Amino acid sequence: MAFPQGFLDELVARNDIVDVVSGYVQLTRKGANLFGLCPFHSEKTGSFSVSPDKQIYYCFGCKRGGGVINFIMEEENLPFPDAVRFLAKRAGMEVPEEDGDREAGRRRQRLLDLNRDAARFYYRTLQQPEGRAVQEYLDRRKIRKATAVNFGLGASPDAWDALILAMTKQGYTKAELLEAGLAVQNRNGGLYDKFRNRLMFPVIDVRGDVVAFGGRVLDKSEPKYMNSQETPVYSKRRVLYGLNLAKKSKRPNIILCEGNIDVVTLHQAGFDNAVASMGTALTVEQTRLLSRFTKELVLCYDNDNAGRIATERALEILNNSEFSVKVLQLPRRRTEDGELVKQDADDFIKFQGKDAFEALLTGSENGIEFRMAQIAGKYDLSGDEARVAYCEEVSELLSALANPVEREIYATRAAETAKITPEAMKLEVQRALRRRNSREKRQELRRDLNPAAQLQPKERELRYDNIRSARAEEGVLRLLTQDASLFPDAPPLTEEQFSSPLLGRAFRLLWQAKAAGRVPSLPALGEQFSQEEMNHLTGICQQPESLKNGRQALADYIRIVQAEAAKRSGGAVDPLLAATEKYKDKKGTGGKQHGNE
Ligand code: UTP
Ligand code: MN
Repeated sequence: MAFPQGFLDELVARNDIVDVVSGYVQLTRKGANLFGLCPFHSEKTGSFSVSPDKQIYYCFGCKRGGGVINFIMEEENLPFPDAVRFLAKRAGMEVPEEDGDREAGRRRQRLLDLNRDAARFYYRTLQQPEGRAVQEYLDRRKIRKATAVNFGLGASPDAWDALILAMTKQGYTKAELLEAGLAVQNRNGGLYDKFRNRLMFPVIDVRGDVVAFGGRVLDKSEPKYMNSQETPVYSKRRVLYGLNLAKKSKRPNIILCEGNIDVVTLHQAGFDNAVASMGTALTVEQTRLLSRFTKELVLCYDNDNAGRIATERALEILNNSEFSVKVLQLPRRRTEDGELVKQDADDFIKFQGKDAFEALLTGSENGIEFRMAQIAGKYDLSGDEARVAYCEEVSELLSALANPVEREIYATRAAETAKITPEAMKLEVQRALRRRNSREKRQELRRDLNPAAQLQPKERELRYDNIRSARAEEGVLRLLTQDASLFPDAPPLTEEQFSSPLLGRAFRLLWQAKAAGRVPSLPALGEQFSQEEMNHLTGICQQPESLKNGRQALADYIRIVQAEAAKRSGGAVDPLLAATEKYKDKKGTGGKQHGNE
C-alpha cells in the first residue's frame, strides 16, 4: 500500500464528504441523507445522495458511488495518489511519501524529463541538415514556422540510434528509454530508436508535461503514424492532443477532430480551440477532462464512414453529459476530374479556406440534426414506402427528446423532409413517445417484480452465484459499516464463507480496520477496490437498513451465510456456527428476546 492506513483515515476524517461535495454539487437535506443533481450523469431530479454518517456518496440513477477520495478521483479526473494529495492539500496535511512511493514519483519525473529532453532533441534536429526532409514535408503541408514552434514539432533523424546516443550522453539509461517507449529492443537485446525519419508531434498534457509522441512518415509507407505505447506517464484514454493549447482559447467551444495535422492546421488558421483524440474513439475520461474547460463541443470528424461511426459513438458517450454538442459536417470535395472525395479538417482549410470553415462552425448542426440527416440518408424519399419507413424511424429518434419544444421543432423539420403535414408527423412522434413510455414502464415493473436481478451487480465479473447468501452478506456489510458495536469481538464469519468474493474481501478489510480499533468504513479503503467495486459496495451501504432490530437482523444474516456456506462445503458442520450461538446467548439475544436492548 502506498499510503499508511492511519494517514488515509485521518485524511478522510478531515475532508468531510458533505463539505467536499458541496464544492461541486448543490445539496439539500432529505432525512438522513443529502441529495443533489448527479455530477456524473445528466438528470433533472436529484438521485445523487451523500451520507454524512457513512461518509459516502451514491447515485441511485447511474449507480456510481464511493468515499471522498473516489469522488475527487472521478470529479477531478485524478488517479488515486493524486486525489489523496489533492485532499491532503485541501485539509492542510502533509503527505507521508513512503520510500516506494517516493521512488515511483522519482521514476515518473525521470520519464517526464526524458520525454522533454527527447522533444528538445527532435525540435533541434528539425532546424539542422538532418531535419531537412521533415522541414520540406512541413512546407508541402503548408505548416508555417511559427505554428511548428507553437506545437514543438520536430524531426526524428533517419538513423537507428541518434536519439539513444543523445539521451544516454545526457545521463538517461537504456532501461529508461525503453520504459518511455522511445527505444525498442531487437531480438538480440540491442536497442534502436523507435521513431526514425518521421515528423514528430510531442503530446503535451494540460499540465504542460510531454507525456508521449506521435510520429508521421514522410511518404506513403505504413504505418502512417506511430504513437508512444502506454507508459507510467501516458494513458491515451486521458489525453487529448492539443488541449494544452486549446484550454487557453478564447473561443466558446472546443472542436474535436481526428488527427494531429487537423489540429495543427486549425490552430494555424485561427481555430485555436481544436483538439484530437489521435485516431481512437472519444473516452469518458477525455470528456471529463474537457468539461473543465468548456461546456460546448463541436465534433468535426472526417466525412467518411469511419468518421461517421466515430461521430455516432461520441454522441452516445456525450448523450448523458452536461455538454451541448454540435456536429460540424465537412462536405465532400470535388476533384478536378469531377470525383467526389473525402476530406478532413486539414483538407477543408487548405481547399476552402478559414472563412468557409468559420461559416461551417457557426452553422453546425446539433446532434439531433446530424442523426436526422443520417436517417434521411438511408431512404430514397421519392417512394411512399420509404417515406413511411423514414417517418417511423425518425419519430422513434424524436420521441427520445426530453424537451417537448424540441420535439415539436424537429418534428416539423422531419415533416418537411418527408413531405407530409407537420400535424401527421407530430402525431407519429406522440405515438412513438407513448410506445416508449409504456416500454419503460414495463421494464421498471419487471425490475420491481424481480428483485434478484436488481440485486445483481452491474459488472459481469462481480455477479453473485448465490443470491440468497449474497443478500445476507450485503446485510452483514451494511450493519458493519453502520454500527460496528453490534458485532462481537471475534469475527462471526470468515472471508471464505462469503459466496461473493468481493463481499468477502470487503468484510475482511472492514474487519481488519475494526480489529485495529479504527472505524470500519469504506471511504478510507478506496485504494483496495476498483471504481466498479466501490460503486457496488456503496450501493449496498446506501440501501435502507433499520438499526432498530439490528442485532436480530445480524444474527439472521449470519445464520443464512453460514448455512449456505455449509451447503457449499457438502454440509460439513461449521465450527463457527457454535461460536455465534454462544455469542448470541451471552448477549441475551438468543431465544425469543430478539430486538434492540
Ligand atoms: P488520419 O489517417 O485521418 O490521418 O488519422 P491525418 O491526421 O489526417 O493525417 P494526414 O493528414 O494524413 O497527415 C487520424 C489520426 O489517427 C492516428 C493519428 O493520431 C492520426 O492523426 N493514426 C492514424 C494512428 O495513430 N496510426 C495510424 O497508422 C494512422
Ligand atoms: Mn489529413
